[in-house]
Amino acid sequence: LAASFGNGLLAGRHVVVSAGPTYEDIDPVRFIGNRSSGKMGFAVAEACVLAGARVTLVAGPVSLTSPAGVARRIDVRSAAQMHAAVLEASAGADIYIAAAAVGDYRPEQVAPCKLKKQAGADLVLTLAENPDILASLSALPEHPFLVGFAAETHDVATYAQDKLRRKKLDMIAANQVGEGLGFETADNALTLYWNGGSRELPRAGKAELARELVACVAERFRGARA
Ligand code: CTP
Ligand code: CA
Repeated sequence: LAASFGNGLLAGRHVVVSAGPTYEDIDPVRFIGNRSSGKMGFAVAEACVLAGARVTLVAGPVSLTSPAGVARRIDVRSAAQMHAAVLEASAGADIYIAAAAVGDYRPEQVAPCKLKKQAGADLVLTLAENPDILASLSALPEHPFLVGFAAETHDVATYAQDKLRRKKLDMIAANQVGEGLGFETADNALTLYWNGGSRELPRAGKAELARELVACVAERFRGARA
């Protein structure tokens, strides 16, 4: 199986992949989540295994089984838990691919008991900002080669390139979401951006797209280290 793709492009490399949504609890029965299925991130993890890497998969709440050959899986629920797990797993890793859709905000307080409806009144939730996992990593003196994702409904190229610069990433994979594209679909299309270049990966199944993405990451990773 491994011989059918990649020719060991990432042999001997440790790659950390995050996948899926995060859930930010409001009370014991409610949360704020998002539409990420985790499929793209799991496909990326599988492509990294096929390219010969040792893969750590940090997964938000998804109903997916790990691809064969994933060395370690860490299941998390909230953005804060994902932040801690990714920072721990990334120490000494070669590459971090951030395919997770991390919640930007969490309820400032998690109610210990189920909130009761107050008939006739609005409910106001105060949300606190979550830490940015990629930005935390890029601020470290030593960190892995960093690959982000940018799922955008509009102005995809502008927002993606802004995130590449702002988070000091090595590469970003941008895709359009909404209108039957992206999050809950079987196929996807990506545009990769890095400092001084870009590449279009046309619409394909997530497994094929992930293999093309990983081949490009491996090429840029080798270039960055040369
Ligand atoms: N990301 C992260 N930590 C967060 C939020 C996002 O590491 N707290 C990562 C995602 O995993 C993704 C990249 O940053 O790889 C871009 O995520 P995105 O939500 O598009 O970027 P934001 O900076 O949160 O901008 P916005 O949601 O306003 O578009
Ligand atoms: Ca966000």
